[in-house]
Amino acid sequence: MDMNERGKAPQPGIYELDVVDNVPFESVPGGSHFALTLQKPAWDGWTPGQFVMLRPKNWGADLLWARPFSICRVNEEGLTLFIQAKGRGTERLRALTPGDKVCLWGPLGKGFAVDAEHPTLLLAGGIGLAPFIGYAERHPNPAGLTLLFGHKIPERCYPTDLLKTSGVNFQAFPERCLEDREAFLARIREQMALIAKQQGLVLACGPQPFLKAIQGFAAECGARTQISLEHRMACGIGACLGCVCTTTEKWPVPSKAGLPVQTCTQGPVFWSDQIVLE
Ligand SMILES: Cc1cc2nc3c(=O)[nH]c(=O)nc-3n(C[C@H](O)[C@H](O)[C@H](O)COP(=O)(O)OP(=O)(O)OC[C@H]3O[C@@H](n4cnc5c(N)ncnc54)[C@H](O)[C@@H]3O)c2cc1C
Ligand code: FES
Repeated sequence: MDMNERGKAPQPGIYELDVVDNVPFESVPGGSHFALTLQKPAWDGWTPGQFVMLRPKNWGADLLWARPFSICRVNEEGLTLFIQAKGRGTERLRALTPGDKVCLWGPLGKGFAVDAEHPTLLLAGGIGLAPFIGYAERHPNPAGLTLLFGHKIPERCYPTDLLKTSGVNFQAFPERCLEDREAFLARIREQMALIAKQQGLVLACGPQPFLKAIQGFAAECGARTQISLEHRMACGIGACLGCVCTTTEKWPVPSKAGLPVQTCTQGPVFWSDQIVLE
């Protein structure tokens, strides 16, 4: 089910928007996170799991390519992205102030499925939490959602308060050592097996090794599972072929099975048995 307000697939557009707010979260070694709020785009709607391409006007010729970010939430205050500063682009986004202009295109790609009749397990690793904030806020039955959140950087660096007030069963798993990671993965495996018995849905977003483990658990227990990929992207609209991933024999179009597809237009959310993770 698509959560677009008008019940049809939202059409992407290109928008010039003002920065409304840029709120830093506590910075710790290895992590500077911030919530960047832009003017609400005049679009038809969006589906959690979709993303936008963002390029501030002041990047000039220094940084040519826009950067992709999951839509975290959209409300009357605007469109909020939750970003981890990693490199040149995100560091410069961190410095944006209210009134700065950005160019944005979106909403792009395919978002997460919704099943209000069965329980849904959300699995987030680090910044992979971002799309689940909007997902939880817009879900017709948030009490049916359980979110397991694994993080190396302290929880106070993430907007987890928004999840705790949304009615979701939220559980955080700090990762300080290998044993913590193994315990988190063991918990995920156990919960996925339970969800499979309940005919529920599993949705995951996070780093590739995390998604690969989840893909393996899904194959083992048969849980209906979607994973959201964070490949590098340049255009976001299927034109540059810089973001491809390979499909499996389960891909719904048989003539495309085993072939590369664009993550930006065919994903970033895929059924876990339909793509190969490197
Ligand atoms: C669909 C999608 C949704 C995303 N959503 C979010 C989000 O909500 N919040 C957020 O903080 N980030 C998100 N990302 C990742 C974000 O786009 C990258 O971190 C960003 O483009 C890095 O730009 P940069 O110029 O700062 O880094 P660069 O200088 O280009 O690279 C710095 C480092 O980051 C790594 N990197 C670059 N791109 C990615 C990527 N796509 N994924 C993982 N590592 C990368 C590089 O390999 C390098 O080590 C998303 C990516 C995709 C494809
Ligand atoms: S980013 Fe250009 S084809 Fe996907």
